[in-house]
This record gives sequence, structure tokens and C-alpha cells, in this order.
Amino acid sequence: MLIRKPTDIKPSDITAESVFLNRRTLLRSAGFLGASTLLPQAHAADEEIPAKYKRLTGVRPSPLSTKDAPNRFDEISGYNNFYEFGTDKADPAAESGRFRPQPWKVKIDGEAGITGTFDYDSIVKPHALEERIYRFRCVEAWSMVIPWVGIPLGEVLKRYNPTSKARYVAFETVVRPAEMPGQKYPILDWPYVEGLTMAEAMHPLTLLVVGVYGVELPNQNGAPLRLIVPWKYGFKSIKSLVRISFREKQPPTTWNISAPDEYGFYANVNPAVDHPRWSQASERRVSSGVGSLFASRQPTLPFNGYAAQVASLYKGLDLARNF
Ligand code: MTE
Repeated sequence: MLIRKPTDIKPSDITAESVFLNRRTLLRSAGFLGASTLLPQAHAADEEIPAKYKRLTGVRPSPLSTKDAPNRFDEISGYNNFYEFGTDKADPAAESGRFRPQPWKVKIDGEAGITGTFDYDSIVKPHALEERIYRFRCVEAWSMVIPWVGIPLGEVLKRYNPTSKARYVAFETVVRPAEMPGQKYPILDWPYVEGLTMAEAMHPLTLLVVGVYGVELPNQNGAPLRLIVPWKYGFKSIKSLVRISFREKQPPTTWNISAPDEYGFYANVNPAVDHPRWSQASERRVSSGVGSLFASRQPTLPFNGYAAQVASLYKGLDLARNF
């Protein structure tokens, strides 16, 4: 992955976070917040979200949200990795205007009782949408806090009756070089592919994402459907999904094909295992809101802070070898 070294690091967004938290503490102690509103929910100012993004209805807050203050909409939609649109962080926003996320179909195949090609509504509509404010840690040692809107992936997968042979789930991004200019070049092996173990795919934290900040996903964030696996490095969170395959064998993954010594299949966030070319012990939160691109460095947490929920998935596995 191409790495940018920020030169001007300015103070962090800690002020914004403490203001946010203090306000809630105040309201709570004054008895203004009822049980359900105690759940953190992200609200971007209306003027921050361009009107072209359709608001999603019926989105409920999730108890699995972090209380960290979310990044701004313009940070989340303006600083992206989506190599199908180019390798610069600004390319996905600048180059994805021609991409058409609807109509959309997903092929579901492999070791499952129900297989076939399904349209977006038949996959998404049977489920209630949740807002999950997650910490998101890129392998390049920057991070954000993002209010995703989605459905637990496991709830979706269950409906296709995976068989006992299904030990892995493989995912594939759409190939449309006419709409995705980066795909005209051999930057990566297209299509972008990713995979999870069945236990990871079924874990309640793993989200099939359809939106952010209460609106439909911007093209640059992986419209109309992407994964979020919050305890793993960002490259596992594959965008613009068109295929989900239940497999018996571990599927190949794009960054592992591209640089096997640098990017493993598991890619669990792990401050104790450095990338061969840089440390993973700390990260910089993207924070243009304080006048510079990054906030100050903060320690990276094992499993990105989700160890209590997911560490048991890897019992007995050597995480330094299975990076
Ligand atoms: N999915 C596809 N198809 N192509 C990509 O280049 N980049 C990955 C991941 N999913 C990528 C992808 C990487 S490296 C990261 S960090 C995240 O998407 C970035 O997601 P975001 O731009 O929504 O923050």
C-alpha cells in the first residue's frame, strides 16, 4: 500500500471528543436521556452532507457502538482507499462520479442450500438497519471513527443456508473499467477479492454496510454494499460487493497475492506485530477538522479495541505467524 508520511502534525481532536462526551454526561445526569437514547448516535450537521445522498429511514442505534467521537462526513468521504478509482487518497472522491451503484446484483454461490443471483433489495430489505459507530484502523497506521449503517453479515448469510462444508466466505468487488478508471491499470489483480473464516463472517460485529452518517454509501466508500470487520485492518473491508461464496478452502485475498510477506489472510489489528516496513504500535486519527490532516499519535489497541469480543476466535493460533 502506498504510504504518505504526514509532515504537519497538529494537536488532536480531543477537545471535540470531550465536548461531545461531557454534553452527554450532563444530559444523562440531568435525566434528559432515556434508556434507548443512552446509546451513542452520530449526527452530522445537515450542511456537512451533500443533498445528493439519500437519507436512510428506520435506522436504529446499536449497543455495539464506540463512544469515541466520530470523524466528520467530509473526512470519511474524502480520504479513501479504493484503488479501482486510483491510488491517491483523494482519487476515489474525485473519480467515482461515473460509477452507478444501482441497479445492483450479488451472486451467492458455493457451499450453501440457496444459491443464485439476488438483487440488492432482496438481500437488504428483509433486515432492520443499525448504526454502528466503529473504530476503523487502516494497515497504513491511520484511523477514523465511522458511523456505519448496516446489517450484521451473519444474519444475511444465514438466510442462504450455508452447509457444514462452508468453512470460509469469499467476497469479490465489481469489475467495471468504464466506470472505475483504476481498473484500466494493473495496480492490483482485478477483481479485488477478500475472505473471512465462517466464524469471523458470522461474528455479530461483522457488518454488511449500506450507509454512513444515516445516508446511503458514497461511491468512494464502496456503494452500494461493502463489508466492515472492525477488529481487522481496513483492507479486509472489501467494497462494492458483487459476489459472496461459501467455500471449504481458504480463499485467495488481493493484498496477500500482491505482497504475501506484508499482508496475511487474518490481518487482525495487532500492535505487537509490525508490518515489515513500519510499526503497527500506534496510529494517527484522520482529523482535518482541527486544521491538519492528522491528530496526534495514539496507541493502537489489540484487535483495534475489540479484543473482549473477538480474541476467543483465535485461541491457540500463533498471531505473529498468522498475521
Ligand atoms: N475494497 C476494494 N474493492 N478496493 C480497495 O482498494 N481498499 C481497502 C478497503 N476495501 C479497497 C477496498 C482499504 S486498504 C481500506 S483502508 C478501506 O477499504 C478504506 O475504506 P474507506 O475508504 O471507506 O475508509
